[in-house]
Amino acid sequence: MRDVAIIGVSQTKFGELWDTSFRDMITEAGLKAIQDSGIKGADVDAMYVGNMSAGLFVEQEHIASLIADQAGLNPLPCTRVEAACASGGLALRSGIMAVASGYHDIVISAGVEKMTDVVDPSPIVSTASDQEWEAQQGINFPSLYAMIARRHMYEYGTTREQLAMFSVVNHKNGARNPLAQFGMEITVDQVLNSSMVADPLRLLDCSPITDGAAAAILCPAEDAHKYTDSPVYVKASTQASGTIALHERKDITTIDSTVHAARKAYKMAGLTPKDIDAVEVHDCFSINGLLAIEDLGFVEKGKAGSFVEDGMTEIDAQIPVNPSGGLKSRGHPLGATGIAQAAEIVWQLRGEAGKRQVKDIEVGMTHNIGGTGGTAAVHILSN
Ligand SMILES: CC(C)(COP(=O)(O)OP(=O)(O)OC[C@H]1O[C@@H](n2cnc3c(N)ncnc32)[C@H](O)[C@@H]1OP(=O)(O)O)[C@@H](O)C(=O)NCCC(=O)NCCS
Repeated sequence: MRDVAIIGVSQTKFGELWDTSFRDMITEAGLKAIQDSGIKGADVDAMYVGNMSAGLFVEQEHIASLIADQAGLNPLPCTRVEAACASGGLALRSGIMAVASGYHDIVISAGVEKMTDVVDPSPIVSTASDQEWEAQQGINFPSLYAMIARRHMYEYGTTREQLAMFSVVNHKNGARNPLAQFGMEITVDQVLNSSMVADPLRLLDCSPITDGAAAAILCPAEDAHKYTDSPVYVKASTQASGTIALHERKDITTIDSTVHAARKAYKMAGLTPKDIDAVEVHDCFSINGLLAIEDLGFVEKGKAGSFVEDGMTEIDAQIPVNPSGGLKSRGHPLGATGIAQAAEIVWQLRGEAGKRQVKDIEVGMTHNIGGTGGTAAVHILSN
C-alpha cells in the first residue's frame, strides 16, 4: 500500500446559494482545488463525488457523468459515492484507497449537495433514516436526535445549557470563517430562547439546510513535493457501519460506528486521542457533538457536557473542536460535509486558517457520520 498525501483543497461558500446551480458549485470547488494543488486538469486520473440525494433535491441522477462532463474532464472515470451525510467522508476514503492501492495516481475526492431548491427538505433528509421504522412513523432527524439528547440528559445529567454551549463555541469559531453559512456569534440565552424544533432541541441546536461543495486533490505521498511545499499526509482512513434504526441499539447514547471507526483509525495511525491537536466532528445537532467527543475518546462517556461547559473544546484549549464552525455554523450540505471537514484540517495543518488558526497543530482528525450513525468515517491527517 502507498502512503497518500492531500495536495490541494477547496470549499465554496456554504449557505442558501440561490444564484448558483448544482453543477456550478461542484465545478467551482473542483477548479479551486486543482488551482490550490498546482496540478493541471489533465493530470487527474479519477474522481469520486460524495452526494446524498441529487435525485430528490434537484431531480438529477447520474451526477458522476454530469460532473466529469461539466468539468471538461471526459473520459475521466468519475464515481458517485452515497452514504447519506457521510457521503463526503466515503468519497475521501474511496480516493485514498484508489491512490494507496496504486490503481490511480492523482484523484479528486469531492462532495456536493444543493438542498435549498425544494420547499420541504425534511422528508428528503429523512430518507437517510429507516423508512419503515422511523420516517414513515413521522420521526425525522431532529426528533431522533432529540430522543438521544433526552436519554443522555437522563443517564449522565447533561444539561440544556451544556448542549447550548456546544453551539456557542461552534459559532464563535464560525464567525472567523468567511465560508460559513451562519457566521455570527451566539449566546447560551439565544440558544435557550430560539424556536423549539424537537424537545429539547431548539433551532440553534440544529445544523441548517445548506447548499455547497468542497474538493480535495490526492496523490502518492512520494510525489507530493512535486506539486506543493506543504503536503498533508493521510495517517488513517477508516469506516464502520452501525444499525440504521435507533431502536436496534443497546445504548442510544453511544454511536457504535464512531467508536469502531475511531478505534481502527488510532491503530492505523499509531496514535491516541491525546495526539490529536484539533478535530472536526459531525455535530448535525448539538447532542451529536457531545457524543462525538465521547465516542472518539477525548473524554469519558457521559462527561462531554461539563467538558464543553468548562471551555475545553475552544480553539486554544485541550482539544479544539470544530475550528471551522462545524456543521452548526459552517453549514451542512450533506454530501459535501466530509470533504469540507478535511479541507478545514488541511488549512489548519498548513497554518492557513487565519483568525481561527489552532496553534502548533501537527495532527488533525475528521469525523463524518451518516444518519444517526449507520455509517461513520474517520480520518487522521498530519503535516
Ligand atoms: C432546524 C430546521 C428545522 C429549521 O428549518 P426552518 O424552521 O424551516 O427554518 P427556516 O429555513 O424557515 O428559517 C427560519 C429562520 O431561521 C434561520 N435558520 C434556519 N436554520 C438555522 C440554523 N440551523 N441555525 C441558525 N439559524 C437558522 C433562517 O436563516 C431564518 O432566519 P430569518 O427568519 O432571519 O430569515 C432545519 O434547518 C433542519 O431541519 N435542520 C436539520 C437538518 C438535518 O436534519 N440535517 C441532517 C442531519 S442528520
